[in-house]
Amino acid sequence: MIIAIDGTSAAGKGTLAKRLQDFFGFAYLDTGALYRAVGKKVLDSQNNPENATIATQIAQSLSPETMLCLQNDPSIRTEVCGAAASKVSAIPSVRQALFDFQRNFALNPVFEDGTPAKGAILDGRDIGTVVCPDAEIKLFLIASAEIRAKRRLKELQEKGIYAIYEDVLADVKKRDERDSNRAVAPLKPADDAFILDTSDLTVDSVFEQVIDFIKSKQKTVGTNQQAND
Ligand code: DC
Repeated sequence: MIIAIDGTSAAGKGTLAKRLQDFFGFAYLDTGALYRAVGKKVLDSQNNPENATIATQIAQSLSPETMLCLQNDPSIRTEVCGAAASKVSAIPSVRQALFDFQRNFALNPVFEDGTPAKGAILDGRDIGTVVCPDAEIKLFLIASAEIRAKRRLKELQEKGIYAIYEDVLADVKKRDERDSNRAVAPLKPADDAFILDTSDLTVDSVFEQVIDFIKSKQKTVGTNQQAND
């Protein structure tokens, strides 16, 4: 089974993905980490994240082994890397360079030690629409920009990073605008996605609603299969 989770930044995708990973025992790929790593490497090389040639070279240089472990690297979790990721992700050749790895992970999911898993969970912006249009389960999480900015601010404060709410809100809105309006693989729900607004929901409640959706979806698939037999 493939579970695709898309949505805006700070809508709760990562938290949900980890809960589902524990519940189903599937392998999980945070695809945003791939774009963050490319953005960070472009910045580290003193280049502009909008430089398509450099960003593409860097994306092409990442090995599958490296890509599998990127999500554990805390250095890519900064706001600066998030903004750089959003810029490199608008470059079609960067997306192309990262596509095969994501697609292959979905079809042949493995844990970080290379052990095969019986299912895959991927989160990002275009998983249900471009990377895995065939995923059995497609989830699309949204939340108001104000709530997401508050969540981000709390995360930053917990890490001891000083930030101002208005600045964080402006960054959230800028990232939404860039991710949703780019020409290639823009952020949008697949036609068959379960759209969930997490603004006023607890983590437990999001998880429960998603499990209910997955159960109802599996029941429908079972009923259709019986009808075809
Ligand atoms: O989920 P995140 O905040 O770590 O993602 C960082 C950026 O990467 C985000 O602003 C858009 C981009 N991204 C993307 O374009 N496609 C994906 N599948 C995942 C992330």
